Amino acid sequence: MRDNIISEKDVMQNQTAHPAKIAARNVQVYYGDTHAIKDVNVDIEANTVTAFIGPSGCGKSTFLRCINRMNDTIDVCRVEGDIRIDGEDIYDRKVDPVQLRAKVGMVFQKPNPFPKSIYDNVAYGPRIHGLARNKAELDDIVEKALRRGAIWNEVKDRLHAPGTGLSGGQQQRLCIARAVATEPEVLLMDEPCSALDPIATAQVEELIDELRQSYSVVIVTHSMQQAARVSQKTAFFHLGNLVEFGETDKIFTAPEDPRTESYITGRIG
Ligand SMILES: Nc1ncnc2c1ncn2[C@@H]1O[C@H](COP(=O)(O)OP(=O)(O)OP(=O)(O)O)[C@@H](O)[C@H]1O
Ligand SMILES: [Mg+2]
Repeated sequence: MRDNIISEKDVMQNQTAHPAKIAARNVQVYYGDTHAIKDVNVDIEANTVTAFIGPSGCGKSTFLRCINRMNDTIDVCRVEGDIRIDGEDIYDRKVDPVQLRAKVGMVFQKPNPFPKSIYDNVAYGPRIHGLARNKAELDDIVEKALRRGAIWNEVKDRLHAPGTGLSGGQQQRLCIARAVATEPEVLLMDEPCSALDPIATAQVEELIDELRQSYSVVIVTHSMQQAARVSQKTAFFHLGNLVEFGETDKIFTAPEDPRTESYITGRIG
């Protein structure tokens, strides 16, 4: 990772915008010989929901996984460039990826509760990061997280039943509760509603809007309606390129790039 990568140009750009929570510069991602992300530059703001949209295979998940170094776990994957959160290079050797992932939480497309109780799924992160001093504090954290995941009422009487015994939509809300339990600063969500019914989807969307008060949320979605409903900023990816990034309203009503227009009007993808 290069050192003086935040150039004068970036500083100038930032004078007009809010300071970036996440700043990505010249990011390239390769899977062996496949060049999956091509020179992506983007500033993602705090207290904002940013949607990543684009056709299947364009690199949305790949780029999302760069933000909490989840690609480190894929052998053939190589990430180049510079990604900073609050100015700190997250690929610096000093950064512990486990600590980073507590600060930058993630929710995946397929709900993936641990084979543990509902309670232990949520308590897992706070336990390993020492966030509670005693059982009562841990109980509190778990309840608060389950409430934020909009699932407390459904599980409060069976906290010690296995998380894997919940329905798909409940499991996803449990995973959201698990991700927020460590009070992350950034929440990455990769198609979090694809396994949910319309009611659970509405609950999650409401939750996303609430989470924005405290966090920076990045959501990958194939639903243009969802992107328009929940996000303030939208990034359109195509063939590994970040083609267009801006205010969601603008991207959906007056996109500048013909590829964006084709996608949002349903001509590509
Ligand atoms: N683990 C992997 N190993 C090899 N190639 C991969 C891997 N993951 C993704 N790719 C490749 O990287 C490119 C981008 O994939 P990615 O999963 O990021 O796309 P996406 O935009 O999230 O697509 P979708 O909307 O279908 O989820 C694709 O060409 C894909 O085949
Ligand atoms: Mg994906």
